[in-house]
Amino acid sequence: MINQEEFFKKITSHAKEYGFVFQSSEIYDGLSAVYDYGQNGVELKNNIRAYWWKAMVQQHENIVGLDSAIFMHPTIWKASGHVDAFNDPLIDNKDSKKRYRADVLVEDHMAKIEDKIAKEVEKAAKRFGEAFDEQQFVATNARVLEYRQQVDSIRSRFFGSLEKNDLDDIKKLIEELGIVCPVSGSRNWTEVRQFNLMFSTQMGSTVEGASEIFLRPETAQGIFVNYLNVQKTGRMKIPFGIAQTGKAFRNEIVARQFIFRMREFEQMEMQFFVKPGEELEWFEYWKQERLRWHLSLGIPSAKYRFHDHDKLAHYANAAADIEFEFPFGFKELEGIHSRTDFDLGAHQKYSGKKLQYFDPELNENYVPYVVETSIGLDRMFLAVLSHAYAEEKLEDGSERVVLKLPAVLAPYKVAVLPLMKKDGLPEKAREIMDILKQDFMCHYEEKDAIGKRYRRHDAIGTPYCVTVDHQSLEDNTVTIRDRDSMLQERVAIDQLQGIIIAKIRK
Ligand code: GAP
Repeated sequence: MINQEEFFKKITSHAKEYGFVFQSSEIYDGLSAVYDYGQNGVELKNNIRAYWWKAMVQQHENIVGLDSAIFMHPTIWKASGHVDAFNDPLIDNKDSKKRYRADVLVEDHMAKIEDKIAKEVEKAAKRFGEAFDEQQFVATNARVLEYRQQVDSIRSRFFGSLEKNDLDDIKKLIEELGIVCPVSGSRNWTEVRQFNLMFSTQMGSTVEGASEIFLRPETAQGIFVNYLNVQKTGRMKIPFGIAQTGKAFRNEIVARQFIFRMREFEQMEMQFFVKPGEELEWFEYWKQERLRWHLSLGIPSAKYRFHDHDKLAHYANAAADIEFEFPFGFKELEGIHSRTDFDLGAHQKYSGKKLQYFDPELNENYVPYVVETSIGLDRMFLAVLSHAYAEEKLEDGSERVVLKLPAVLAPYKVAVLPLMKKDGLPEKAREIMDILKQDFMCHYEEKDAIGKRYRRHDAIGTPYCVTVDHQSLEDNTVTIRDRDSMLQERVAIDQLQGIIIAKIRK
């Protein structure tokens, strides 16, 4: 059994070795927390984006798309609260010179206490066997209650101090909890200070005439400032949604764990505009709808869980994460936020332009409330990749690495492989390739023994390999090999296209 850390290392090196993800600027020793997607990575990423777009836009008659610019008027970020409140509280360890997010240090500490509770429950479950009642145990066991009380009091003090921006008290809390630097092991901390996560640059040619603008830290604001354009030109009626995918930028301090936390990343966001007062119903609806989307990929539900927020962002009246069990534990994959009328109200105030919707049923104007779904494309890529990666021992004693990607997301759907590089097999295989490539990403390969070619396609997750052999020349049939079962069936070439479409749709 390998541990999760080793498993994660295997995934990152597999991603590089097979052309999925490369470190940005690698020949210049890399740029921290920025990554490039290689020939297979770009296909997987495009397919995830398309799968999301299809579910959100194509399959919802009341949701339309948008592609707004990355550069926007700087006042947008003042109105949205990002200039003043998009901060992380930072603390440095004076001995290791390492920088940490103070909230992450405190949350990790609370997670350790939660682990102790889980261990108590596990021990008790073993002791009591079938008769064990977990609910009763956690409600009455003295040790568990003490741990729970510790977590609750840390949480309320920490969030209280953060709310009041009392950074001195956050430092005091870190000291009182005896939190040490994971690198130096010391408690020699600096003061806590706030650090804004937005990247800025200059727009304009002369220093005097240039204005500071920001690289968007979320795609959502592009939707808000276009909401009336879309509503009016599309004659949209509430409730309706606007969806957008695109790059976002954050100067993350603790950027680690590969493509989990990046400085340049892509978001897939949808803002759903609703009647005030109906937002919490829609919030519940979108929580379930988004979870359904994840499960539709065939990834087991045990890999997902909801996490309701204790501390709400400045714009929200309810918020939940869909967490995924990454190799380093359950972490946020997607956020669902009930953003109230905060954003539209603020843009109305700062721009001086009315952003109201005329509701023909009520015969009145109002600023709609908004429920948002927001998922990181790169993070979804990591979730899919880490779940798909498997090492298998085969019956003949050999081993294979296989990416069991959902077929709809796989970079290549089909590999077309002539059994040999002679006897007219390559020509026949090329004919098949020319037909199939009209509908699918296909890969033609004739080099190396067939077994080796199967292994290469297992490693990049190609769900089907079509092999052309001597019988193909006689009766126009080929074998089609399933990546996961490795079983082969013989089918007529003229039915191949339909068979593959049906398999991918499954
Ligand atoms: N518009 C709301 C918003 O941006 P968020 O929770 O800050 O909310 C939404 O981000 C999603 O974007 C997250 O759930 C995550 O999947 C992704 N994300 C956020 N920061 C990221 C980063 N630094 N690197 C990769 N993905 C990130």
